[in-house]
Amino acid sequence: MTADLTTSAAEARRRIDVRLAELMPHALPDQPELAAALRDGVLTPGKRLRPLMTLFAAEDLGGAQAPAIDAGCAVEMIHAASLVLDDMPCMDDALLRRGQPAVHAGHGEDLALLVSVAAISHAYGLLAGIAPLSPQARIDCIVILSRAVGVGGLVAGQFADLRGGRNVRPTTEISTTNGLKTGSLFIAAAEIGAVVAGADAGTRNQLRTFADELGQAFQLLDDLLDDGTNPLLIGKDVGKDNGKSTMVSLVGRASVQRRIERHLGAADRGLTEIFGPRSRLHWLVETMLAQARPLSLMQDVTTHGLSEEVGAR
Ligand code: IPE
Ligand code: IPE
Ligand code: MG
Ligand code: MG
Ligand code: MG
Repeated sequence: MTADLTTSAAEARRRIDVRLAELMPHALPDQPELAAALRDGVLTPGKRLRPLMTLFAAEDLGGAQAPAIDAGCAVEMIHAASLVLDDMPCMDDALLRRGQPAVHAGHGEDLALLVSVAAISHAYGLLAGIAPLSPQARIDCIVILSRAVGVGGLVAGQFADLRGGRNVRPTTEISTTNGLKTGSLFIAAAEIGAVVAGADAGTRNQLRTFADELGQAFQLLDDLLDDGTNPLLIGKDVGKDNGKSTMVSLVGRASVQRRIERHLGAADRGLTEIFGPRSRLHWLVETMLAQARPLSLMQDVTTHGLSEEVGAR
C-alpha cells in the first residue's frame, strides 16, 4: 500500500490524539490523582485502531471529519476502560500497558475501577452531545456502543475468556469469544462511522461484516504476540494467556497465520464491495497482514501440537 495512505493514517492518528487529550479532564483541582489516573488510562499512546476505523469509514462514505473524530474518541474511551479492567489482578493480572505501568499498578486497584467507570461514562456523554449529528444519529451511536459493551458484547466475551478459557475449548468457541471480547468494539467502531456519514442500513451491515472479520484477525494476531514476543517491543506483558486455551495453543502459529490470512482476505473483499479496491480501511487490513507474516515464522512456544481442522472459523 502506498506511502500516502501511511502518511494520511499518521495524520489522522495525530488528530485523534489531540482531540482525545482535549476531551479528557485536564485537572481536577481537589483530586489531582484521579485526573492523572484517568489521563494515564486513556491517553497513553495506543495504536488508536478503533477511532481510525470510525474516522476512515465516516470520511470515505462522505461524512464530516470533526463528528467522526469525536465519535471515534468515544469508542477509544470504552476500549481504554476495557484495557484498564483487563489488566487488573482479578483478570489478566498484567503490570505493563502501552509501555507504562498498568493503571492499577501505578495508581491502585480502587482508582483503576473508578477510571474505568469514568471513561465509560464519558464516552456515552460525548456521543450524546456531538452537535452536528441529528438526535437520531446520536441515539443510534449510543445504542450501537452500549450493545457492543454489554452482555451481548465485550462483557460476555471477557467472561467467556476468563472462565471458559481455563478449559480446552473447540476452535469455534474460541472464535465466538474473540468475536465478543474484541470483534464487538471493532464492529461498533465501523458502524458508528457509517452512522456519522448517514449511510444506509445495507452499507452499515456491510461494514459490520468487514469489521467482524478484521476483529477476528486482530485477536489472533494479538494472541501470536502474546506467545513469545519481547514485552518491551509491544509495551505490554506477554504470556498472560498461558494456561488459557487460545487458538495459538490449540492449533499452533502456522495454522493461526492461515486463519488470519483468511479473515483479512474476507475483510478486504468486503471493503472492495463498498469502496472499490483502494480505501484507507484497506490500508488497515494490509498493515495487519504485513505484521502477521513475520510473527507466524516464530517457533511455537505453547502449542499442544493439535493439527488444524481446515475451513473452521
Ligand atoms: C488490545 O488492543 C486489546 C485487544 C483487543 C487485543 P490494541 O492492541 O488495539 O491496544 P492499544 O490500544 O493499541 O494499546
Ligand atoms: C483483551 O484481550 C480484550 C479486551 C476486551 C480487553 P487480551 O487480554 O488478549 O488483550 P491484551 O493482550 O491484554 O491487550
Ligand atoms: Mg484478557
Ligand atoms: Mg490481557
Ligand atoms: Mg492479548
